[in-house]
Amino acid sequence: MSTRDEQPLPGAGALISARGLRKSYGRTEALRGASLDLHEGEILAVTGASGSGKSTLLHCLSGIVRPDEGTVTYGGEELGGLPEGRLSELRRRDFGVVFQFGQLIPELTALDNVALPLLLAGTRRGEANERAGEWLERFGVRGQADLRPGGMSGGQSQRVALARALVTGPRAVFADEPTGALDTLAGEQVMTALVHTARESATAVLLITHDAQVAAYADREVGLRDGAVHSGSAQAAGQEAVRREG
Ligand SMILES: Nc1ncnc2c1ncn2[C@@H]1O[C@H](COP(=O)(O)OP(=O)(O)O)[C@@H](O)[C@H]1O
Ligand SMILES: [Mg+2]
Repeated sequence: MSTRDEQPLPGAGALISARGLRKSYGRTEALRGASLDLHEGEILAVTGASGSGKSTLLHCLSGIVRPDEGTVTYGGEELGGLPEGRLSELRRRDFGVVFQFGQLIPELTALDNVALPLLLAGTRRGEANERAGEWLERFGVRGQADLRPGGMSGGQSQRVALARALVTGPRAVFADEPTGALDTLAGEQVMTALVHTARESATAVLLITHDAQVAAYADREVGLRDGAVHSGSAQAAGQEAVRREG
């Protein structure tokens, strides 16, 4: 068994650094020593077969799940050392998450779904609604503002889910197969919206996909197999991000 002391140091300049993550569910070892750096403003694709540990890695990096072993460092703080309250505050303020099936709140309209993270952060209702409306507009779903998720197409609800993930201005967005349930055209619209916004605001994106066309939107790709990174560089320097700026 590896110990923390044997893990390489968190990557210099990385926004989020994972080192030696291990996580088991019963006898299933979902992660077996996965290490990864996500740099500021970088779009990083994580690919791998079903069951290779991609979602578990995303859950650990975003502070949703605590790994059994290993560390996740964000802005110099180790997530594992934070009390639950501080961790959920950080998640709300600095991270956005999008899942394969939007996971919008079915009882709320599109507008209310997007306004919710702002309300939770203490923004007044009027301002929250205004900003939520702007984000719906940006993603081409303002016309759906008053609809509940059940009344929208898959592509529309994913764009609402993106708006919800980005409305608070997070430093990092975690997207778990965001186009996995969409047809090609709707998938392209969602990816274009995500990539465009992330570039504009220098938001880092960890993008899980097993679609090569989707991975092509990323600056860099890392492959997972059996719960560990097996291809691409876990620690590749932020050169890609720098190149993009040029
Ligand atoms: N909450 C859970 N309970 C039990 N087993 C789980 C859970 N989450 C993941 N696993 C198992 O861990 C392994 C990796 O899962 P996951 O991270 O979802 O992989 P991927 O996203 O690459 O398909 C799989 O064998 C899966 O069945
Ligand atoms: Mg998964």
